[in-house]
Amino acid sequence: MNFELLTTDPGSKARAGKITTDHGVIETPIFMPVGTVGSVKGVHQKELKEEINPDVILGNTYHLYLRPSTEILKKAGGLHKFINWDRNILTDSGGYQVYSLSDNRKIKEEGVKFKSHIDGSFHTFTPENVMEIQRVIGADIIMAFDECTPYPCDYRYAKRSMHMTHRWLDRCISHLDKTPYQYDYTQSFFPIVQGSTYKDLRKQSAEYIASVGAEGNAIGGLSVGEPADEMYAMTEVVTEILPEDKPRYLMGVGTPINILENIALGIDMFDCVMPTRNARNGMLFTAHGSINIKNKKWCDDFSQIDEMAITWVDTEYSKAYLRHLFTVNEMLGKQIATIHNLGFYLWLVREARKHILAGDFVTWKNMMVKQMDKRL
Ligand code: GUN
Repeated sequence: MNFELLTTDPGSKARAGKITTDHGVIETPIFMPVGTVGSVKGVHQKELKEEINPDVILGNTYHLYLRPSTEILKKAGGLHKFINWDRNILTDSGGYQVYSLSDNRKIKEEGVKFKSHIDGSFHTFTPENVMEIQRVIGADIIMAFDECTPYPCDYRYAKRSMHMTHRWLDRCISHLDKTPYQYDYTQSFFPIVQGSTYKDLRKQSAEYIASVGAEGNAIGGLSVGEPADEMYAMTEVVTEILPEDKPRYLMGVGTPINILENIALGIDMFDCVMPTRNARNGMLFTAHGSINIKNKKWCDDFSQIDEMAITWVDTEYSKAYLRHLFTVNEMLGKQIATIHNLGFYLWLVREARKHILAGDFVTWKNMMVKQMDKRL
């Protein structure tokens, strides 16, 4: 993997860059649509490639390991072939889902024993087997196995957990060195900064993560319920320390406003279920604020979904019709809303990139933040 830093914004720490892997170029800042189980929910490959057009999508080790299973993915020749996606894929390690989805898990130094949320069967994730599973899934970027602490989290727990995440990182790296690539392309490995909402821990963790010299670095344990200002404060501490010449990925973030504010703090990569999950609940993001399309007020509004016309659904359908589809629970409504939201998120990061390159990012960002902070 190669990362080229093209510009740093003069008025903030925002950067425009270019990641190149064996599956092509990722222009940064980037938002990665979430394809948990190997599908960006409700979106056909044709729409994803031609309309939303992301350079990279995300998959989850936890889900893919449980279903379809590592064995099937190996037989398929990896996730790219299985889902017929020839661009980049990043897989999260399971170091988040195992805590959020399994209602029964035991975290020990060795790893995490958990109960599947599907059939109640017991499994264990260790730094070693998670690296092996991610080799077989075959994403271009794979993540360290970590513990994502909840919010709030007491200082002693956060500190102990952070040190365990660091020890797990050492185990991930030494096991990866012994585990060859499974397919005819390379994979890059990103470690994850933890430390909850404590500046001293975040600083310590960022220093440790930077010291391993990985190809890119991630920040985890945020957007777990803390106020936005605390999130930004943690990002700021960490981006001061992480190397400039490597991509920085903020995991699980966030709202359109969170994304712009974190770009200003020096983040290059984002993923979040928000545009897809909220779409399925009738929430649309636009440049002028968010819309709850289920609201009665849209029942006779025959204007197009979004006059910005970022994707074809925006002008093809009216607000009143989309509201009707939600009211009668037609799956088409969820599909339309998903395409709209992903189109908007990708537009937002591409615009951010353009403004960073043009040198007027902060002015644009402040105008957008104000504009988007509304419920229509
Ligand atoms: N996704 C969102 N936050 C996290 C985190 O802290 N760790 C991992 N592995 N994935 C995440």
